[in-house]
Amino acid sequence: MTAVQITPVDPADREALLAWNALLRDGYTAGRDAVWWASEESTLAQYGNPKPGRISVLLLARLDDEPVGAAGAEVDPGNPAQVELSVLPGHRRRGVGRALAAAARAALDGHASVVQAETSSEAGVAFARDQGMRIGNQEHRLLRAMPLPPETEAATPAPTPGLEIRTWHGACPEDLVEDWARLTTQMDADVPMGDLTRPASRGEVEDLRRSEQRMDEQGWTLVRGLALLEGTAVGYTEIFVNRHDPEILTQDDTLVERAHRGRGIGRALKLANLENLRAVPEAAQARWIQTYTALDNEPMLALNRSLGFREADVLSILEGTTSGT
Ligand SMILES: CC(C)(COP(=O)(O)OP(=O)(O)OC[C@H]1O[C@@H](n2cnc3c(N)ncnc32)[C@H](O)[C@@H]1OP(=O)(O)O)[C@@H](O)C(=O)NCCC(=O)NCCS
Repeated sequence: MTAVQITPVDPADREALLAWNALLRDGYTAGRDAVWWASEESTLAQYGNPKPGRISVLLLARLDDEPVGAAGAEVDPGNPAQVELSVLPGHRRRGVGRALAAAARAALDGHASVVQAETSSEAGVAFARDQGMRIGNQEHRLLRAMPLPPETEAATPAPTPGLEIRTWHGACPEDLVEDWARLTTQMDADVPMGDLTRPASRGEVEDLRRSEQRMDEQGWTLVRGLALLEGTAVGYTEIFVNRHDPEILTQDDTLVERAHRGRGIGRALKLANLENLRAVPEAAQARWIQTYTALDNEPMLALNRSLGFREADVLSILEGTTSGT
């Protein structure tokens, strides 16, 4: 049997980086519909200006000199390593995945002790279990067809007294940035994560501004809404639109502070932000908007279904250790 050859990919080598990204994408998206993957432009921007302190490992697997699989791992200091790994369908069950995983572990030695990976397939879960990992959390991926109908979204909810929704796109307005930082920190503490190791919080205003800058460089327009109840910020939501590849939008975080839940604020926020999308020219090219909701987060699943989202597949997030024990 031919031995698998594993080689590192230099992220500064443009062609090699793009070939690696395409291979990883092809392995992950084979046989699935409406799956988002980072565009060439975003990938070049991401590795061209890496987050300070981040360790990146990029690996390519070949059989008989033919590229058949790829892996990527990213570690921010103190956080679990995030690993992506895929093998082209015609070359599976020949030990390529196992060889890539072993090489990724060796490269992460000394940089991370906990490792996390995501998969939307049974093969991925079986493979990760073989690697000594366990399922830490599972989420539905939900899809809603785009574009929005020309009129305002169906049935506007009864207004909550004292509620104002501010929406914008791009960086957070200066007068709302402290509130935004407080609520995103709250989200990091609150978001259901099952048994997964929780990452460090996104931090304060300075970190937020840096992250907005990096997202913009990578082509992201941040479409955002903030809920103010009697003038106090109590919730937020955001949608990501990538101008290099606007076909699939992502409805990301939505948070309503615990004390104010059950009053229609989440719904009002999401509806207002969907309307806000109309002001983003590239969103007109979207075919889908996707969102992820934990399998047991019934209130959010019900809200998403009522907004026209339907379950597409299940994402399993797995966790293990770099030592594999
Ligand atoms: C998951 C994936 C990377 C496995 O790659 P691979 O090269 O086929 O994996 P290997 O041949 O090294 O398999 C190692 C072990 O994993 C398990 N495994 C892999 N695929 C499996 C499947 N379809 N069903 C059951 N077990 C499976 C087996 O225990 C296997 O050992 P064995 O073949 O000796 O029984 C590949 O299926 C893939 O690219 N899937 C899509 C991307 C993805 O989900 N990646 C996330 C990985 S956490």
